Amino acid sequence: MKLLTVVLALFSWSTIVYCVSTGRFCDSESGDDFQRAHIGLIISPIMSIKMIREIEIYWNHAKYRPGDTIALYTSEPANGLEPIYTLVPNAPSGIKRTGLQATFVPTSNLTFVRQCLQYHVAWLRNGTIRLTNCLQTQPHWMTERKEILGSLPMSRVFLPGTHDSASYAIHRRANLENFVERFVITQDVDVLAQLIYGVRYLDIRVGHYPNTDSVWWANHGVYRSVPMQNVVNQVKTFLDNTNEVVIFDIQEFPVGFGKNLGVHHDFIGFLEEQFAGYYLPKSYHGWTSTLNAIWSSGKRLIIGYDEKRVVSRYESVWPCVTHQWGNVRTIEDLFNYLNRIETESLGYPRSIPRSAMAELTPNTWDVILNRLGGIRQMAETVNFNVTNWYNSKWQHTANIVAVDFVRSSGIIETAIEWNERRNSRC
Ligand SMILES: *[C@@H]1O[C@H](CO)[C@@H](O)[C@H](O)[C@H]1NC(C)=O
Ligand SMILES: *[C@@H]1O[C@H](CO)[C@@H](O)[C@H](O)[C@H]1NC(C)=O
Ligand SMILES: *[C@@H]1O[C@H](CO)[C@@H](O)[C@H](O)[C@H]1NC(C)=O
Repeated sequence: MKLLTVVLALFSWSTIVYCVSTGRFCDSESGDDFQRAHIGLIISPIMSIKMIREIEIYWNHAKYRPGDTIALYTSEPANGLEPIYTLVPNAPSGIKRTGLQATFVPTSNLTFVRQCLQYHVAWLRNGTIRLTNCLQTQPHWMTERKEILGSLPMSRVFLPGTHDSASYAIHRRANLENFVERFVITQDVDVLAQLIYGVRYLDIRVGHYPNTDSVWWANHGVYRSVPMQNVVNQVKTFLDNTNEVVIFDIQEFPVGFGKNLGVHHDFIGFLEEQFAGYYLPKSYHGWTSTLNAIWSSGKRLIIGYDEKRVVSRYESVWPCVTHQWGNVRTIEDLFNYLNRIETESLGYPRSIPRSAMAELTPNTWDVILNRLGGIRQMAETVNFNVTNWYNSKWQHTANIVAVDFVRSSGIIETAIEWNERRNSRC
């Protein structure tokens, strides 16, 4: 504490602010070219017969200079360490494929300790490392920022989310997808891995198949992906090993629910039994609960449910998150749509969180003629821009932002960084 006081006194003449939560100094007005600069690593969603998990480097650096270089390493960057790839940025922001394939990391190799997964990236100026980042997991990012996030309800936290979270397929080796897979697979890591990487909003769609052993399945449309039991177990494993808050949002009932509410009652029975001891009852304070209130309740799972007629009858399920879909087919239209909802959100503070669905939506002919490519191609088209927009335009309003193939965006690190900046003086 004494040291901190001395340090603060030393810097009190300047604009430097010490963030207790991050343990970092930040200077909002100094001439440090690197203060707002960013470099990051993403894993491409594109899969061909030859390549899977291609490493891509993205950067955002308004004050880049000719001669600056970006280098990729397989361990912590240090002056003199030989990079495996280098590039010379030719614009203030951009993304570059490296032609290098990232090692496959099974979920069982991920731990509940924040870690860099082999690859590191550095920005060098005049041969000196000025900025670094790595491909990393963020299993405790909320808890680590308890002081700055604690007083906020979920609607005021910038939360990374995944679209159709349980419609994942895990490929160890390069392979080709069939026609159906191209339009139903939205993620390349399972739900537990998504949570360990930092996702806190899960968009779940459920199918009822009474003639199968599992009965309840996670679906994407009519496509059945994994048994719901399996998804539930992954979420519980995450909650058991962290102190993080997770939204498990049941958004659609594409198969087997019909018009009558009986199947919903059965499904809520399943959720209540499976998540007993985990879910936060709605009467607690509902969506107005602050994170501190949620933490002190000891229950960190919020179950959203998109069927108003049953939500009112159960304590276990909450009104679902508002999905904001642009139903757009081009990147320009996606920008315009997201710009509209983020700008409008300023005028309408709400307690129920909203999720910006940052994806393209192909129409039937796009699918038949393969005009936009599959979901992997569409994610590759938009995820870098979405990351950039939420870093530079809508970082102050963002609530949930849900993407496809989350590792191919920088939305997790963007959300963490802006939760810090917008709730402290940094
Ligand atoms: C998306 O990002 C690319 C690459 O930086 C850029 O050229 C393009 O203008 C961006 N598109 C939009 C609509 O912002
Ligand atoms: C995953 O864990 C296994 C067993 O500990 C180890 O042999 C393997 O090298 C690990 N793989 C990666 C990519 O870390
Ligand atoms: C980088 O090195 C060049 C020549 O050695 C020098 O002129 C320049 O001022 C240096 N730039 C920085 C930012 O140190």
